[in-house]
Amino acid sequence: MSDAKERVEQLRRELNDHNYRYYVENAPVIDDREFDRLMHELEDLERAYPELDDPLSPTHRVGSDISKGFEQAEHVYPMLSLGNTYSPAEVDQWLDRTRTALMGEDVAIVGELKFDGTGISLIYEHGRLVRAVTRGDGTRGDVVTDNVKTIRSIPLQLRGEGWPDFFEIRGEIVMPWAAFERLNEERAFNEEPLFANPRNAAAGTLKLQNSAEVARRGLDACFYYMLGENLPCATHYDNMQRAREWGFKVSDAMTRLYSTEEADAYIARMDAERKQLPVATDGLVFKVDSLRQQLNLGFTAKSPRWAIAYKFAAERARTRLRFVSFDVGRMGTITPVANLEPVLLSGTIVKRASLHNEDIIRQLDVHEGDMLYVEKGGEIIPKIVDVDVSARHAGAAPVRFVGHCPACGTPLVREEGEAAWVCPNKWGCTPQITGRVEHFVGRRMMNIDGIGGETAAALFASGLVRDIADLYDLTVDALVQLDGIARKGAERIVEGVRASCEVPFERVVYALSIPYVGETTAKKVARAAQNIDTLMAMSAEALTAIEDVGPRIAESIVDYFAAPENQVIVGRLRAAGVCMAMPERDASATSDRLGGKSFVISGVFEHHSRDEYKALIERYGGRNVGSISKKTDYVLAGANMGPAKLEKATKLGIPVIGEDDFLSMIAE
Ligand code: IVH
Repeated sequence: MSDAKERVEQLRRELNDHNYRYYVENAPVIDDREFDRLMHELEDLERAYPELDDPLSPTHRVGSDISKGFEQAEHVYPMLSLGNTYSPAEVDQWLDRTRTALMGEDVAIVGELKFDGTGISLIYEHGRLVRAVTRGDGTRGDVVTDNVKTIRSIPLQLRGEGWPDFFEIRGEIVMPWAAFERLNEERAFNEEPLFANPRNAAAGTLKLQNSAEVARRGLDACFYYMLGENLPCATHYDNMQRAREWGFKVSDAMTRLYSTEEADAYIARMDAERKQLPVATDGLVFKVDSLRQQLNLGFTAKSPRWAIAYKFAAERARTRLRFVSFDVGRMGTITPVANLEPVLLSGTIVKRASLHNEDIIRQLDVHEGDMLYVEKGGEIIPKIVDVDVSARHAGAAPVRFVGHCPACGTPLVREEGEAAWVCPNKWGCTPQITGRVEHFVGRRMMNIDGIGGETAAALFASGLVRDIADLYDLTVDALVQLDGIARKGAERIVEGVRASCEVPFERVVYALSIPYVGETTAKKVARAAQNIDTLMAMSAEALTAIEDVGPRIAESIVDYFAAPENQVIVGRLRAAGVCMAMPERDASATSDRLGGKSFVISGVFEHHSRDEYKALIERYGGRNVGSISKKTDYVLAGANMGPAKLEKATKLGIPVIGEDDFLSMIAE
C-alpha cells in the first residue's frame, strides 16, 4: 500500500509535468503512447486503491481549450473522448467484449479514420447552422461560429431533405497538409514560431479573433457523429451517409465491417492508405453501427463503450548524430540543427533535423555522437524526439549551445521569456543581411525577379549590396561584372527593381523585415498608419491600439525605426521612389476593376466604414444595391450580418465575401 501510494504520487507528478510541457510549452518530451501508458497505470492504481483518489489527479482532468474572448456554451450532450489502444489484438478483444455484452447478438461495426485535428460540435436548427462550439472541458466549450462559417466545406444551409428540425453533428476541424505547409513556410519566412503539426495549427486557427485570417488559412472539416432525438436512420453508418447528402464532408474510408478478420484487414489497409490522404490522421475509430446496440452498451464516465480508437504508431527512425550546426536567420535567430547519418523515414532520406532551441537540447539531454530518434509527425522539418541513452559512447560530452554567432562571432543574447538566442549584429552578420535582401525581393514582398539566395550572397560578397536600399543603385554594367550574371539577367534585375516602386505600401512594410511583423500584421499596421512618416512616429502605445498588435510587436516596430541605420534605409528607399503611403482616397479617381458587378453590403466592418465601402464599390466601377436578389453578384459581409440576408444569399447561391476578399478584388 505505501509502495502504491508512492507510485501514485510519482505518476501524478510526472503526468502533470508532461501535461504542462504539452499544453503550455508546446514541447512534449514523450510521445502519446508513453503518456497513455503512464495514465493507464495511474488509473489502474486508483481503481485498486480508491482511498488514494484525489479530485485533482490528472486522471480527472479532461483538458480544456477554453480561451478568453469567446462566449461559451454548454454542450447539449457532453463531448467525451474515446478509449484507445495501439494494438490490433485489443481491437479484437473489444469486439469480443462487445458481442458478449450484447448477449451474442450479431454486431456490425463501422471502421473510420481518426482525424487529427480539433473536435467541433455543430448545432443545426431547421437545416441552418446556428452554433459551433469547441470541445472545451467536455461540458462547455467556446462558441466559434463565426470562424467555423469561414470553412467552405461546412454547409451553412443543408442541402437535400429529411434532416431533423434539431440535431447536432460532430466532426473534426482539420488543416490539410498543403495548407499546413503553406502556413508554416510563411511563418518560417517571418521567423514566427512554427506549428508543430496540423492539429495545433487547426486548433490555434479556430481560436483566432479575426475570422478573415481564419478564412485565409484554409481549414477543412470531416464529420463522424450525429446526435439528436429524431435521427433519420437506426444505424450510425446510414446516418452518416444522410449527412453526406445534406452537404457534410464524410470520409469515403468509412466502412461497415462484420468480423474480427475484416477489422484486422481494415487496419492493415488503412495504415497504408492514410499516407496518401490530404489530411492528417492518427488512427482509426471502430464504432458499433446499430444505435439500439449503442444505447444498450452505454458509456463509462469518460468514453462510450460502443467505440474504440486504434492509434497508429508514429513513424520514427533511429540514427547517429554527426554534429550539431547552428543556422542564423534573417532576424538573427539561431536554430540548432542535428546533422545526421542519412536515414530513410516515410519515404524520404533525412540528413538534418531541427533541435529547435537550447531548452529542447537540454530536455532531450543530447550528447555528442548519440543515437537519436527522428520523427516526421507532420512537421515539414523532421525533429528529434528522443535519445537512445543505452547506445551512448562512454565519455561523450553533452551538446552545448554556442555562445557566439557561428557566422560573425558576436556574443549571442537571449531576451527574458524568449526561447531563442539571437545574434545582435544586425548590420555586420552576413546571413542576416543576405536573408533580409532575399526576403525583400521575394514574391510576396517587392517581387523583384532574378535575385535568389545565391545572387543575394554574391551581391553582398561583391560589396554591391550591403542593405536593401543598395538594390536601387544597381546598374546593368555593375551587375555584369559578377560571376554568373549575364547581361539579360542583369537587365531583368534592374527592371525588377524599377518595377518594385509600384508595390503598395503595405507590402513595403512587410518587406522591411521588422522582427515579428508578418504579412498580416504589416497590412494592418500600414493601413492604420497610412504612411511611413506616421508609422515611424507612432509610440508603442499607439501601435498596440491596432488589431493584433501586442506589446512585443509594438516594441519591435518602435525599436526598428529608432535605429539610425533603418532611418537611413527608409530615406534612401523613399528617394528611390519606393511607395511610402497608402493610395490617396481620391474620390475623383475611377477604375473599372469591378466591371459593373452589383454588391449588397451587410454587417459591421473593420478596415473601412460602410459608407467608405460604398464609395469604393462605385470608384472601382461596381454598383451598390439595397437588397439581395437573383441579380446580385456579391454580398459584402462584415460581422453580425443579418441571418435573413445570409439565408437569402445562400439560397440564391450568391457569393458572400469578406472585407479582405473585397479589398483584394480591388487591389492594384
Ligand atoms: S467519435 C463519443 N470519430 O478523437 C465519441 N472521434 O479521442 C465521439 N476524432 O474527441 C468521437 N476522428 O475529436 C470520433 N472518426 C472519429 C474521429 C474522432 C477524430 C477525435 C474527436 C474525439 C477524439 C477522441
